[in-house]
Amino acid sequence: MADFDKDSLSNTFIVAVAVCLVCSVIVSGIAVALKPAQLINKELDQKQNILRAAGMLPSGSNVDEDGRGVEELFSEFSVRVVDLETGRYIDDMDSSGFDPIRAAKDPAMSIALSAAEDIATLRRRENISLVYIKHDGDQIDKLVLPVRGYGLWGTLFGYLALDADLQTISGLGFYQHRETPGLGGEVDNPNWKAKWPGVQLYETDGQPGVRLVKRRSFPHDDSYGFEVDALSGATFTTRGVENLVNFWTGDLGFGPFIKRLKTNSA
Ligand SMILES: Cc1cc2nc3c(=O)[nH]c(=O)nc-3n(C[C@H](O)[C@H](O)[C@H](O)COP(=O)(O)O)c2cc1C
Repeated sequence: MADFDKDSLSNTFIVAVAVCLVCSVIVSGIAVALKPAQLINKELDQKQNILRAAGMLPSGSNVDEDGRGVEELFSEFSVRVVDLETGRYIDDMDSSGFDPIRAAKDPAMSIALSAAEDIATLRRRENISLVYIKHDGDQIDKLVLPVRGYGLWGTLFGYLALDADLQTISGLGFYQHRETPGLGGEVDNPNWKAKWPGVQLYETDGQPGVRLVKRRSFPHDDSYGFEVDALSGATFTTRGVENLVNFWTGDLGFGPFIKRLKTNSA
């Protein structure tokens, strides 16, 4: 009988393939098993971002000053589906699982934006989106909107929160972007984010007028309330943030919906 040569080329190949197969089965199994946990964590992360934009969760903490956690705080919000063109609620559609960003890629669920319209460099805008509303009795207390737009290196994704008057910004935060740390990445700096609460949104003509400026006007000037300090050394990111805020609160964004909310006709 021929000697069994465990170091032969064919044996080495068989063992290598077997090890690869076993490893790939283990890795795939773990990936599949972890998928539900990943989805739960992603959802929790989005809730945290919404709460932070609304100023209800301090940055770097998972509880508010009264020790209330993310789920408890987020339970005060209702998630509503909105037709962006008409500004009306769509009540017969389930919001769970609906992804406005994916909808924007589908020509059947979005509109193409012309160069003049597309100040946030989106190319397409979804027809339907989600809004997050916190009520205080019958009155709106906070409105949180998903916003996005191009900076220097890519799209910034975040949430813009408005106060009860739907005129005063309550906060702005980004959960995903590709801007350079220390330059455009300063959009995440708590000191810069603290400059947003109180900023005014709509000018007397009803159009959004937020401006990111290198030097702010004097407090008695009309423009003062609309201004936020620009990020130094990050002109492109700064312009991107200004444009995305004004796009999503304007006529092609949530503007029609916000107008309806003000007259209780959404
Ligand atoms: C490596 C590198 C990374 C940069 N990252 C950003 C950035 O994230 N956002 C931005 O607006 N500008 C960024 N810039 C700077 C821009 O290229 C440009 O110089 C700057 O926006 C000018 O801003 P200023 O007018 O405020 O000086 C980067 C430049 C370099 C060299």
